[in-house]
Amino acid sequence: MDRRPIGIFDSGLGGLTAARALRARMPEEDILYFGDTGRMPYGPRPAEQLRRIAAQDMDYVASFGVKAIIAACGTVSSTAGDLLEQYRLPVFGVLKAGVEGLARAGGTGPAAVLATQASIDSGAYARAFSQAAPGRRLLSVACPALVPLIESGHTEPEDPALEEALEQYLAPVRAAGATALLLGCTHYSLIWQAVQRFAGGGTELVGAAECGAAALGDYLSENGLTGGAGRELYYTSGSVEEFTAAGTAFLGRSIEGLVRQAPVMEV
Ligand code: DGL
Repeated sequence: MDRRPIGIFDSGLGGLTAARALRARMPEEDILYFGDTGRMPYGPRPAEQLRRIAAQDMDYVASFGVKAIIAACGTVSSTAGDLLEQYRLPVFGVLKAGVEGLARAGGTGPAAVLATQASIDSGAYARAFSQAAPGRRLLSVACPALVPLIESGHTEPEDPALEEALEQYLAPVRAAGATALLLGCTHYSLIWQAVQRFAGGGTELVGAAECGAAALGDYLSENGLTGGAGRELYYTSGSVEEFTAAGTAFLGRSIEGLVRQAPVMEV
């Protein structure tokens, strides 16, 4: 039994998909969430900068006395995976678990991953997948427009701007006949239905956020580290009001009064 909270961080709202998955499975856990909305998006930033950001985010979340951390950001997991391993805390990124989930999905047909520019450029998804599923084809698609669209509220399945972007990004996925598709950026789980529609019904979707949360849940259960009072607290380096509104809409329950101001850390 360990009653300390679980820390979860992301560049903004995307990591809420991991928090939601964790909450559904472990309602008794306490969750401390940090959305670095003031520095979002991470995807267009150079790798060196992302590594500094990853270390700052980790230190910030660790300072709350958490028992484990989910780096619920594909971009951080892709560009600073080695750095995350240096902490004394158990730290779960979303890349490894996501890629393992992808390797199990869609039989042996071609697979695809959607992620941010920095994640795709790092080659980390491609490397991990070639180890998890040797010889299986992987199509990697960078989707730079999606995080800004999602953060500005374009999440409805019929949203015209979202549809236009998804048509562009998923045309090659359909052309490749992908049987499995990894949402390699945690924000993308917020538009799961829309992605499924543009990918086609024959493509099995896998969420890196949900896989990362499941990996952490397994770890806590197997090591007797579960426990808490089902509390949650959210910190944002952007607008508390906007985060409260967007988080409430996404989670389908009010987080009014549970969101606090975090500093915008200098890169
Ligand atoms: N949710 C982050 C990820 O998983 C988005 C990064 C960004 O802000 O561009 O990659």
